[in-house]
Amino acid sequence: MTSMQEVAQRAGVSIATASRVLNEVSTVNPELAERVRQAMRELDYRPNAVARNLRRNRSSLWAVIVADIGNPFFTALVRGIEDIAQARGYSVVLCNSDEEPAKEDLYLRVASAEKMAGVIISSSGRSRRIRALVDAGTPVVAIDRKLAQADVDTVLVDNERGAQLATEHLAESGYRRIACISGPRRATTAAERLRGYQRGLRAAGIAADETLICQSNFREEGGYQAMEALLRLPAPPDAVFVANNLMTIGAVECLVDNNIGIPDQMGVVGFDDIPWAHLVRPSLSTVSQPTYEVGRTAALLLAERIAAPARPRSMVRLLTELAIRESSRRTVLTNQAASR
Ligand code: RIB
Repeated sequence: MTSMQEVAQRAGVSIATASRVLNEVSTVNPELAERVRQAMRELDYRPNAVARNLRRNRSSLWAVIVADIGNPFFTALVRGIEDIAQARGYSVVLCNSDEEPAKEDLYLRVASAEKMAGVIISSSGRSRRIRALVDAGTPVVAIDRKLAQADVDTVLVDNERGAQLATEHLAESGYRRIACISGPRRATTAAERLRGYQRGLRAAGIAADETLICQSNFREEGGYQAMEALLRLPAPPDAVFVANNLMTIGAVECLVDNNIGIPDQMGVVGFDDIPWAHLVRPSLSTVSQPTYEVGRTAALLLAERIAAPARPRSMVRLLTELAIRESSRRTVLTNQAASR
């Protein structure tokens, strides 16, 4: 089995440099890094995860804690994490918090007790154990949602800008009573998207109407119930921005059940691209996230943190993209809208 020493000798670098390249520490000179990678390929070097972790008194496991294992957004996120983890000799233990702080704390206790090599977490926003885990020296990376309790490496997307562009697009399409179905108050993604919606209304010169904001739970039934409540208003909306994929599905189901025509009677823009959004009719406008890349970036940061615990913290915010499709392009003004 090829050793790290043989790789370093072949590349003409120190063992420390070769080790930093293996762990993707970004401060290594690119030319030296390529020499090391070339030597690894020529010698068919395989990292000895067991030996490395014995030295660190850590397992070769990463805990990945997500808020809803039933949501396809998180499975795509974990795919990006796992591809890097495997390449670095780690295995992923997937934990589902169901947006419940007690479950989240349970998994954080397990990660500590099992001396897991690192934790990547999309937090419900109310966990009390993250600070203790970081203070005990476990590398932690926050993904998708910011952590209020601890200053750790973080990978997010530009939720506020994406929501603002979605709202402005609905206004430009002629909608005037634009509602928002928002997510759980403590999820930073929900708070940022709600702020983006409010900024979008202001940018479009539309007065805010609190009755058009429904705070829900990022779940399908929550989207359905929120849409029902909005339809029962004395002055219902003519468009809705929905802050995540599952609630968008629920809201559309509710509109179909109530024979509300999309987009002419109700414009719809969702968040989180839905794989079949372009297949349904009318096709669904959404704000898409680079979900796989978010997961991959978080995993690279965790590998670097494990290799270099004292390196400076990273905050990465990737760009979302508004995919405009049929559900938000009103073709005819309804009588109500036309009379304004
Ligand atoms: O669908 C679940 C939502 O929670 C996603 O939008 C993701 O960003 C997470 O915050």
